[in-house]
Order: sequence, then C-alpha cells, then structure tokens
Amino acid sequence: MIILGIETSCDETAASVLKDGKEILSNVVYSQIALHRPYGGVVPELASRRHLDNIVPVVEEALAQAGLKLENMEGIAVTRGPGLVGALLVGLCFAKSLCAVNRVPLTGVNHIEGHICSIFLEHEVPFPFLSLTVSGGHTSLFLVKGIGAYEVLGQTRDDAAGEAFDKVAKLLNLGYPGGGIIESLAEKGEPKIRFPRAIPSADSLDFSFSGIKTAVVNYVKGFTTPDSLKKLPTEDIAASFQEAVVDMLIRKVIQARNRFKTERLVLAGGVVSNGYLRRRFQEMARKEEVELFIPSPHICTDNAAMIAWVGNHYLERGKQDSLDIDALSRWRVGVS
Ligand code: KG4
Ligand code: ZN
Repeated sequence: MIILGIETSCDETAASVLKDGKEILSNVVYSQIALHRPYGGVVPELASRRHLDNIVPVVEEALAQAGLKLENMEGIAVTRGPGLVGALLVGLCFAKSLCAVNRVPLTGVNHIEGHICSIFLEHEVPFPFLSLTVSGGHTSLFLVKGIGAYEVLGQTRDDAAGEAFDKVAKLLNLGYPGGGIIESLAEKGEPKIRFPRAIPSADSLDFSFSGIKTAVVNYVKGFTTPDSLKKLPTEDIAASFQEAVVDMLIRKVIQARNRFKTERLVLAGGVVSNGYLRRRFQEMARKEEVELFIPSPHICTDNAAMIAWVGNHYLERGKQDSLDIDALSRWRVGVS
C-alpha cells in the first residue's frame, strides 16, 4: 500500500510517501523556525498562514522525490491532533480534499502515536515495550502492548522536557528553539552546577520540569550587576541543566522498568535527537540490561513518515475515517 502522510500540527509543514509501511520513498520537512525565531516561540496564527503557503509545494516535492503522482496514492494519513488547531486544520482540510477528488481513504492520526511508532520505520520491536516520548509539547512514559494499546504510566505535571529546553534558552537569550542550542553550548561546558532533580513522589512515574527551570532562573538572578552578568557561565549552565533533565528522565525509566519488568525501551520525540541524551540512555541500557531502540535524529523530530506509518497500519486493517472528522487540539493517545 502506498500512503501519503501529511503533518502540520505545529511549526513544520511535512509530507512523506511510504510504501508498505517500510520503505520511505520521500520525507520532506519544511521548518518554520526562522519565521518564529524573532518571537522566541511558535506564533499560532503565523504558523497556520505559513502552512497554507507551503502545503502544496511540500506535498508536490514529496511526490516528486518518490517519483509518483497523486493518482498512485492508495490512502492519505494526516495528523488530526493534538496540536495547534489552526495549523492542524490546514493539513486536515487539504488531505480531505485530496481524498474526495482522488476517491482514496482518509485516516486521521494522533501525533503522539506517530512519535511512539516512529521506531517502526527503522526497526522491528517485539511487544511489550516501554516508550519514552519526549517532545516540545509532551513528556510521557507508556507501556506499549501493541499498536493502539498504550497504557500511560507517567507524564509531565507541568512543562514538557523540550519546553524546558526552550524556556531556559530564552532566559539565557540564546535563541529559539532551545534544544539544539543548549546541546551545542553544553558540549563546551562542565556540569558543575547542581540543579535540583524533582521527584513528584517516590511511587509516581510522572515527571516535572518547571522546578529545574525556576532553579536556572534563580541561579541567573544571583548575577545582579551588568559586569557580573558578563561572567555568566552559560556553557556550564547548559551542561548542568541538560544533565539534570536527562537524570530525571533516566530515573523514571529505571523505576518503570523495575516495576513492569520490561526488557525493551523505545525512545521518541524531538528531544531524543539530543546526542548527550542518546549516549546516556545507551550507557543506562548496558548497565540495566535493557534492549534500547532509538530512531535516527531526523525521525525523532516532527515528520510525516511517522504519520504515514500509523495511517498505513490502520488503513491496511480497513479502519478509515469519514471526510467530516475535525481537528482535535487535545487528544489522548489510544482513545478513538
Ligand atoms: O517532537 P518535536 O519535533 O515537536 C513536538 O511535537 O513538540 O519536538 C520539538 C522539541 C523542541 O522543544 C526542541 O527544543 C526539542 O524538541 N529539541 C531538542 C533538540 N532538538 C530539538 N531538545 C534537546 N536537544 C536537542 N538537540
Ligand atoms: Zn512532535
């Protein structure tokens, strides 16, 4: 089955052509980062307008790279939620019209399910497994018993991990988005500053990242004069912050692994493109004897191939949506 995937839930306009759930024939991502950078974060209205400008060329490019035409598509998978509703609507309305004109089935995909399943684009992973999904909007730990069977074990009680990276970068005037910038700075620094590692409660598998963000704010407040601010050890702050975030993620994963006795761990989401995080999890997996699966960095960040994979799975099983589905700004994964 040849599927066209479309993703417009946030600030990436993306399209991909996927064959038989395995072969990525194209995976085009147009990032709007430059548009939102001056504002230090995604401006929803600007994001929707830019998706409108880009959806046609991005889909055309994905088809051209695959060497195929719209008529060759046997189904269309589009992100239905969660995300910015105006942004989602652009992809969803476009997908619906393509389906109506070409008389092919439509399936609306949950963005988080896309991240969880992104690993299947590159690896076969037997069930059950633990999935840690760490992005700009979500930080969740799932027990995955099969496709569509996701038990939420824990999630963030406040900021998502990626959001914390972005907010700390903004506080330090480093630019947007923060993840990649903090990672590069951290490589030049030492994790000398001991920021607190929040544990919501010993038996909970939830995360919390607002405390570490406040700890960085308070640390920076200690540099009161313009002269002392010049001496702000930005690289050490970045290294210390990054270490603390990864420590907190690893601690909860070990706790979940011990409780559920799972042998396999799958990582997903934009933050997982972080090289330091990947190395730390590899070390942990060796020590704890867990089999670890990590998608390539370009599969961790938002893309349409992961949406096409989930769409392919459901369409192959005859599960399609009607053309009057709406966009869902909130949508718990595993709930239809
Ligand atoms: O999964 P994603 O592309 O989009 C969402 O669904 O949110 O994740 C975006 C998030 C942003 O917060 C960004 O700062 C973070 O992933 N990120 C990183 C890195 N690259 C992207 N965080 C840490 N280190 C990175 N190298
Ligand atoms: Zn995402």
